[in-house]
Parts: sequence; structure tokens; C-alpha cells
Amino acid sequence: MSKVTVIGAGNVGATVANVLAHKDIVKQIVLVDIVGDLAKGKALDTWQQAPIDNYSTSLMGTNDYKDTANSDIVVITAGIPRKPGMSRDDLISTNANIVTSVVKSVLEHSKNPIIIVVSNPLDVMTYAAFKAAGLDSSKVFGMAGILDTARYRAFIATELNVSPKDIQAILMGGHGDTMVPLPRYTTVSGIPVTELIESTVLDAIVERTKGGGGELVKLMGTSAWYAPGAAAAQMVEAIVKDENRIFPVCAKLDGQYGLNNIFVGVPVVLGKGGIKKIIELKLDKDEMKLLHDSADAVKEVMEVFDKM
Ligand code: NAI
Ligand code: 2OP
Repeated sequence: MSKVTVIGAGNVGATVANVLAHKDIVKQIVLVDIVGDLAKGKALDTWQQAPIDNYSTSLMGTNDYKDTANSDIVVITAGIPRKPGMSRDDLISTNANIVTSVVKSVLEHSKNPIIIVVSNPLDVMTYAAFKAAGLDSSKVFGMAGILDTARYRAFIATELNVSPKDIQAILMGGHGDTMVPLPRYTTVSGIPVTELIESTVLDAIVERTKGGGGELVKLMGTSAWYAPGAAAAQMVEAIVKDENRIFPVCAKLDGQYGLNNIFVGVPVVLGKGGIKKIIELKLDKDEMKLLHDSADAVKEVMEVFDKM
């Protein structure tokens, strides 16, 4: 049974801990935050939910990294979220400093953990964590694709008035407005979505997906947490249970898709030990161009980080 640390006990971090506890698949979850007793309070609250919802995973909150010792998996949600009018990239310098210092503190107490980054701007924060950690890239990756694909799948389910459970899809690229939903790889219980939704409506769904994070920031005044938290918990589950799930994950590319030394969303096989394989789809010319455009946008922000 594993030990999972979640750094940042804000909206997303507390949701990761809560959803993961409900899965009852890890021994202990440690929630860390710098703000007073916030992590302690949220961990205690989720522990007090255990007798009601029937799980045994224990939880503790702390601001001392000693309590994170020997973690198998660390989920980093620490940082500031977007406010209305801000892009994810506006968060870069603040969150890069936070992510870098968090990774260093984590590694003082855990030798070889898997690190899942959630903080934004996601692709570049994953790069920052990778640089700070010095671990193999199969062990440092980011969560965005499951969330973005879930938004896309939810919009398709609404349009067709069918269960979101039956929508399968993949989405690639950076976690920003250049992300690349792939209708050609989207099915509804095996039926190509292009047979069920006409192209103008599908195009509108793709556009809404790209702006999906911003839509929620506008509605709530801050960014989303339920679906993001559940998405990160699903990644932890795939690793802990060695499920070999195929998920879109922000991963380091070394030649795949003609891209090098960049962190960007691609389909991977996720299981024990982290990323077991990056899957290379046979993208057509237009899809490949969209992926490369998205990678260019990520590269620009990576370069800003490199110059900091
Ligand atoms: P939040 O403000 O509710 O929580 C962030 C928490 O991090 C706060 O409690 C803060 O005290 C803590 N924190 C700040 N510096 C810290 C440090 N050095 N060590 C430990 N804790 C620290 O924000 P929320 O909504 O939870 O979002 C967290 C991050 O996740 C943001 O950067 C947001 O943009 C990102 N995000 C990413 C998504 C994705 O798909 N990758 C989706 C949703 C949010
Ligand atoms: C989201 O997509 C803002 O990255 C955050 O909800």
C-alpha cells in the first residue's frame, strides 16, 4: 500500500486528497500547505468523512516536509490559480519558484518518488519540476489531458444526450488555448463521433473545450477543482494499481511526433513506476500541424522559464 503526498491544500489539492481517499487504495495521504493549519484541517475533515463513506486511507495535514518522508507519489498543486482576465502563463514566475522549491523539499525526504504536477502553466511547471528533480522523465509528468479530454467528452455527452461514460476520446498538446482535441480519435461506444455530430457543431465543441478552463474561471472567479482533482486522483490510481491505463499526460518528448526536449500532452501508458510508454498516433498532416503549433506555444513559455 502506498503513501501519497499532495502539496497545496487549496481547492485542487484538497479535492485530490478527498477523491483519492474515497478510492481506498492507498495507505496514507499527507496534505501539505504553507498556510497555517489549512492542510491539517482539510485532512481531518476528509478523515472524519471516512466512517460515513467507508474508507480506511488515513490522512494527515502538515507544513513539515519530514512528514512526507518515503512518499511513493507526490502530487504538486501548490501555487496561485488564475483569476478572471489572467492566462495560465501569467502565473509563470510565481508558480515556477513555488514548484522548484517544493520539489527540492520533497526530495530531501523521499528518494525516488513519482511526481505528478498540476500547478499552472502546466506544461512548463512540469518542465520546472523535472529540472529541479533530476529524476527520470518516466517519473515526472503533468496532469491536464485527462481534465481537458473530460471536458470535451462531457460536452459531447450533452450534445448527444447520452452518458459521458460512453464517450472515448483523446486530446493532445499543451494545456492552453492551443490544445488539440482529436475528433478522428473520438468515439461514442465505438461509433465515430463524426457519424453522430455534424462538423460545425463538433467544431464548436472543440472550441469550447479549448476555452474550457477559462469558461469556469469566468463563472466562479477562480479556476476549477472538482474535475481537476478527480483527474489527478485517477492518475494516482492507475499507478498504484498498475493498471496500464492509456491517458493523455504531459510528458517529456525525445523525438516522438518530431518533437524534442519538450513537455506536452500525448497519450501514454500509465502504471507502476509511472509512464511505461508514449504512444505515437499516426496523425494526419493537419493534426500534426496543430500539435506542432501547440508545442511552439509551450516552447515559448519554457524559454521564458529558462531565462528566469
Ligand atoms: P488554491 O489557491 O485554492 O490552492 C493553492 C494552494 O497552494 C494554497 O492553499 C496555497 O497556500 C498553497 N501553496 C502556495 N505556495 C505553497 C508552497 N510553497 N508550499 C505548499 N503550498 C503552497 O489554488 P487551486 O485552485 O488549488 O489551484 C492550484 C494550482 O493548480 C494553480 O496553479 C492552478 O492554476 C492549477 N490548476 C491546474 C489544472 C490543470 O489541469 N493542470 C486545473 C486546475 C488548476
Ligand atoms: C483549468 O483548466 C485553469 O488549468 C485550469 O481549469
